[in-house]
Amino acid sequence: MTNPAFTLSAESPADQPAIEHILDLTFGLERRTKTSYRLREGSWPAPGLSFVARDAELGLVGAISFWPLKIGSNGSDALLLGPLAVHPERQNIGIGRALMHAGIGKAKSQGHRLIILVGDEPYYARVGFRLAPAGRFIMPGPVDPKRLLYLELAEGVLADAEGLVMPPHRYQELSASFAVPHRTEAGEQQAEAYQG
Ligand SMILES: CC(C)(COP(=O)(O)OP(=O)(O)OC[C@H]1O[C@@H](n2cnc3c(N)ncnc32)[C@H](O)[C@@H]1OP(=O)(O)O)[C@@H](O)C(=O)NCCC(=O)NCCS
Repeated sequence: MTNPAFTLSAESPADQPAIEHILDLTFGLERRTKTSYRLREGSWPAPGLSFVARDAELGLVGAISFWPLKIGSNGSDALLLGPLAVHPERQNIGIGRALMHAGIGKAKSQGHRLIILVGDEPYYARVGFRLAPAGRFIMPGPVDPKRLLYLELAEGVLADAEGLVMPPHRYQELSASFAVPHRTEAGEQQAEAYQG
């Protein structure tokens, strides 16, 4: 059996129920407890970077979005990639890769410089993601360090991004108290306070 061709388009508000359904199918209902979700709480997706894939048979079969972040006491801008999900009946035919290329390409054209994500390194390495250096990012909850990845859209920008990873609306509140370099005991305490 051949899979129907798919098309990509910008996500619209009417796509939300179908996207939630695919996220339930792929990541399960407990997905909202994940650390990545804490980085999206109270935020909106980065404008123009949410895409969906459709085919004639199933309708919406994949989706990707990116979320704005601040990193560290200097407030380096970055994006969080995700969620990226493809309908179980349409996996492994290139939809995920196509959604990533669309989103990453657009992010670059908008002037974004750094993307991070929590996900499977063997998959995301295909589009250039690398393992984040140990201790580089402090996340607002538990994350397996082998799944914390980054992609530079401009050479060398990782060097400016170090420390707490926050949604932008929490930067003012958190940055003052988290100004100390994070690889110290103080950094661990800051992370605990942030996560609590
Ligand atoms: C992970 C996911 C987004 C990939 O999208 P997709 O459209 O199925 O993948 P693509 O067609 O772009 O790529 C398929 C290739 O990636 C590989 N691949 C898919 N998921 C992978 C993973 N989690 N780890 C490593 N490789 C993976 C496939 O084996 C295939 O390899 P091939 O090209 O050598 O045959 C999709 O499968 C999905 O939504 N899965 C459920 C959620 C999930 O498992 N997420 C884990 C990643 S965070």
